[in-house]
Amino acid sequence: MPLLFYLVLTALFGLQVIVWWLVFFKTPAGGMSISRRALIVLIPVVVLNGSILWILFRSPSIFALDLWARKWVVFPVSIYFWSILTTGLTLAAWSVVGIIYCLPKRIRTSRAERQAMDHSRREVLSQGARAIFGLSLTVAGYSAYQARTDIEVTRVDIPCGPAHSRLAGLSLVQLSDLHLGSLVGPNDVFHALETALALKPDILVITGDVVNHRPDFIKPCIPFLKELKVPLGAYAVMGNHDFYAGVEEVCRLLADTRVTVLRNRKVTFPGFEEQLEMMGVDDPVFGWAENIRNFGWASGLLQQKRPGVYTILLSHRGKIFDLAVSHGIELTLSGHTHAGQAVLPGNKEWNLSSLALKYTNGIYRQDGRLLYVNRGIGFIVAPVRINCPPEVTRFIFC
Ligand SMILES: [Fe+2]
Repeated sequence: MPLLFYLVLTALFGLQVIVWWLVFFKTPAGGMSISRRALIVLIPVVVLNGSILWILFRSPSIFALDLWARKWVVFPVSIYFWSILTTGLTLAAWSVVGIIYCLPKRIRTSRAERQAMDHSRREVLSQGARAIFGLSLTVAGYSAYQARTDIEVTRVDIPCGPAHSRLAGLSLVQLSDLHLGSLVGPNDVFHALETALALKPDILVITGDVVNHRPDFIKPCIPFLKELKVPLGAYAVMGNHDFYAGVEEVCRLLADTRVTVLRNRKVTFPGFEEQLEMMGVDDPVFGWAENIRNFGWASGLLQQKRPGVYTILLSHRGKIFDLAVSHGIELTLSGHTHAGQAVLPGNKEWNLSSLALKYTNGIYRQDGRLLYVNRGIGFIVAPVRINCPPEVTRFIFC
């Protein structure tokens, strides 16, 4: 079965590479219209990639995937998807800008001149498509390599002040967005957990998206999670992907480990009952209602914050921060964004997810309260991280 699986996957992948090659590299620039080229490419992109996606993400054979297959089959295919996506989006944007820019000129020109313009536009687009695809493939390949080379450990000092001086010296390590699945295997998670445990945390937290789309991806990690030794315990909250996968099953599997899932409840810590507490909330997932999207439903839990007790809130989405601040929660820990898996140099805020979200990467302060958004370990769409390495965050109370 695995052999057949690899053969089918390679054939589907190879077929579309041949189609791309024929259409974009073997057909003369003026020999075929861009719309016809797009149509010829679109059919294999939809049919063949649809089959590949089904095999990779839905078929149970994914469990039989060896490490080398993950490395040499799943990753190249994902990088290829990424390159198609970025090429398509760039070309679409380019075409729209080109049409808007040329429209006044087209109205004023004759039919023959318009035909000449279309011909030269087709040539430019055709050459551009090759260049963009090549560039996109190179960037994706390099960033996929970077994404897997090493995890960045970020240290964040948390000043506790005289009111919470008993907490000084405690350490908490945060992991987020493991996305156990087709792109992130158990070995990647072992590596992340070993990196986290080597920091000797007193508390370990996972802020959601433990799995990507199937609960049983956790199974190979269960023996490891059963043996976790963290003095004050390991805790997790559920992210949107855990809900897509089946949150009840994810929690049932984790119940057999030393990871305690906090679903809209709080815990205290032995020896620190009057100094420290931790709350965890579910992700609102598809909640479109205002009260759900903005975590209004979580107010009941947040109101349980005791004055004078340092409270840590775990929430997959950092969006809860404004509400947490209004309830006096000292520290909120989140993930979800992956910092867009692409950050421009110079400013951590210049990342893809900041186009849609307010809190996306690193530390945020408001009225003396803190939010930390961790970039996560795993991926969505493709195993690509551009200037955005996977992260383990170490918080030291001082
Ligand atoms: Fe995620």
